[in-house]
Amino acid sequence: MEFYDVIEARRTVRDFADAGIEDAVIKRIVGAGLKAPTNDHMRDWHFIVIEDKAVVRRLISRIPMKVSAAEVDAILRDWRLFDVCQQNAYKDAIPKQYRMLAEASCVIVPLLKQKTDVLHPDNLSHLNGFASIWCCLENMFLAAVAEGYASALRIPLGDEGAWAREVLGFPAEYLMPCFVAIGKPAADAARIEQKAISVDERIHKNLW
Ligand SMILES: Cc1cc2nc3c(=O)[nH]c(=O)nc-3n(C[C@H](O)[C@H](O)[C@H](O)COP(=O)(O)O)c2cc1C
Repeated sequence: MEFYDVIEARRTVRDFADAGIEDAVIKRIVGAGLKAPTNDHMRDWHFIVIEDKAVVRRLISRIPMKVSAAEVDAILRDWRLFDVCQQNAYKDAIPKQYRMLAEASCVIVPLLKQKTDVLHPDNLSHLNGFASIWCCLENMFLAAVAEGYASALRIPLGDEGAWAREVLGFPAEYLMPCFVAIGKPAADAARIEQKAISVDERIHKNLW
C-alpha cells in the first residue's frame, strides 16, 4: 500500500472477525514499531503478544464486560462532552472495551522501561520514554493496516495495569502504556466518523 493510503486507511476498529494472525505478521508489525524514533537511542521496549484466549480473559478481567447506553450517557455528561462527533466515538468505544480485546486475533502489551515516576515528572524530558513508545505504537498501527489488519487500544484504568503485571509477570521497571488489540475487521465493523479538521486552519505560518 502507498504510504498515504495506509494513513487514510488506519482507523480504530473495535469489532473483529474470528481470525488468527501469523507469527511472521506479528513480527513485521512489532518490527515496524521498533523502527520508531526514541528518546535515548535504546528502544528499550518489549511486547507481550497474547493469543491464548484464557490468558487474554484473565488479563482483561478487570475491564467492565458490559456498559449500558444509560451509563455511557452519564459518563459523557460527567465528562462534559458535547461535541456530537466526539460523543458518537465514545458511545461506540466505551461499551466495546472488553469485547474488542477478547475478540482480537491477538492482544499486545507493549512495555517501556520507565526510570522516573511517570505520574510525577520533574520536567518534560522525564516523559520522553512514554512519548517514544507512542511513536512506536503508531508505527505498529500503520503496519497492521499494511498487513490487512486493524487495531484498537485501551488505556489501563484503575488497577488494570497492576493486574496486568501480576498476570503477565513483567518486571517492576517496565510500564505498560496501553493494551493493543490487533485483528481482522468484522464485515460489519463500525467506522466512527473522524472529526473533520481543516489543515489550513491548523497551520500558522511564521506566527500564530
Ligand atoms: C492516547 C490515546 C488514548 C486512547 N484511549 C483509548 C481507550 O482507552 N479506548 C479506546 O477504545 N480507544 C482509545 N483510543 C483510540 C481513540 O478513541 C481513537 O483513536 C479516536 O477515537 C479516533 O479514531 P480513529 O483512531 O479511528 O481515527 C486512544 C487513542 C489515543 C491516541
